Amino acid sequence: MKNKIKQSGTAQITLDGKSYDLPVYEGSLGAPGIDVRALHKHTGHFTFDPGYTSTCSTESQITFIDGAKGQLLYRGYPIEQLAEKSTFLEVAYLLIHGELPSQSENAYFTNIITRHTMVHDQVESFFHGYRRDAHPMAMLCGTVGAMSGFYHDEAHVTEDQARNIAMHRLIAKLPTIAARAYKYSVGQPHVYPNNELSYAENFLHMCFSVPAEKYKVSPTIVDAMDKIFILHADHEQNASTSTVRLAGSSGANPYACIAAGIACLWGPSHGGANEACLNMLREIGTVDRIPEYIARAKDKSDPFRLMGFGHRVYKNFDPRSRVMQKVAHNVLEELDLKDPILDVAKELEKIALEDPYFVEKKLYPNVDFYSGIVLSALGFPTSMFTVLFALARTVGWISQWNEMLEDPTQRIGRPRQLYSGAPARDYVDLSKR
Ligand code: SDX
Repeated sequence: MKNKIKQSGTAQITLDGKSYDLPVYEGSLGAPGIDVRALHKHTGHFTFDPGYTSTCSTESQITFIDGAKGQLLYRGYPIEQLAEKSTFLEVAYLLIHGELPSQSENAYFTNIITRHTMVHDQVESFFHGYRRDAHPMAMLCGTVGAMSGFYHDEAHVTEDQARNIAMHRLIAKLPTIAARAYKYSVGQPHVYPNNELSYAENFLHMCFSVPAEKYKVSPTIVDAMDKIFILHADHEQNASTSTVRLAGSSGANPYACIAAGIACLWGPSHGGANEACLNMLREIGTVDRIPEYIARAKDKSDPFRLMGFGHRVYKNFDPRSRVMQKVAHNVLEELDLKDPILDVAKELEKIALEDPYFVEKKLYPNVDFYSGIVLSALGFPTSMFTVLFALARTVGWISQWNEMLEDPTQRIGRPRQLYSGAPARDYVDLSKR
């Protein structure tokens, strides 16, 4: 990556009567940033920003979110256009390389990914070590981390070739491992990838085909799966991407870094919200019970939050939730399913968006609000929802990991703290306590 941010001015701070000028940098879009890298050296002070609400952790050219406008761009292309016109593998190429592939580049990239879909046969023994009722995210996290024990050449992360093969293997093998986790949890035999199929269709085939009968899936369903992957591919420096970058900043093996991202994504405040949201909608059950849950979400003394609502960056609609709502409608229509939960979700969204609490706090549906309805209609159990999110986000994680390692200014991440613990004191022998 070539650094492109430019100094656009200075910010002055005054501490103990002394003034310091700090450079202000601007990117191509979004808010400028005050460069505080030399702050401690010059002033003896740190910045204090738990949760990083006002902190840019890096320069990046991959994804941009305008939270006020509800805009999401992958390398400058609006998510709505990519979801409508592109494919997940083409988006993967775009996120990694920065430009849409030509026809020959697209064919070459698709061929490489297709030829890496199988996993080492000993990975099979991993699965027989898990309990059948292990959460699929536990199996995904454990198995992806274990891949660092199967592939050593990628450990040389400073070499382009090593990073490329690691990125290709991760994009190609995540669906195989994710599908394996699903089959293991439902007690069905493992289904090998079929390289005649497209990426999304191959994943559905590995999840839902059985040796006993032919598996056919409608193009509408394959298209919906591919769109869902596109919508979840990347999202700036969210918690799991920041985890991957921090792990990668030490030079750790790429599979271990992606396993760290999977672990972080699992939390219900992050990628686990899709599973939590569908469970919440099912608990609400009927439209007449919505006011009770809206009241609980507003009650400060009640830890309950409206899952699938709110976002650190979006203070407008998450553009992905609008596309996801359309996908939900198409899938339910194609499968001729009437899911009362969709009516509950639509009514909940309508009521919440008119409620002053949600309006004032700018809480809108996010990507997780409708995704659970679609994934459930496609036949996935709620325990697989975050696995699908991780499968898709692996493309964003490795693009950001690769960008970080190509960044000439990259250093190991090492935040500081405000210490409020005990001052230095001498040990007291047990006999005297
Ligand atoms: C993802 O970062 C990313 O980009 C993530 C993601 C991605 O693609 O990587 O977009 C994917 O993780 C989407 C978010 C999924 N999580 C949920 O849907 C869980 C429910 N949402 C909330 O927990 C919350 O909105 C967060 C975690 C998403 C954002 O939390 P913030 O930015 O720390 O906001 P906050 O908790 O400070 O909330 C601000 C106020 C608070 O009230 P006050 O203390 O100011 O009075 O809004 C309230 C919160 O109580 N609030 C909610 C709420 N979300 C925020 N109240 C009720 N229900 C909610 N969902």
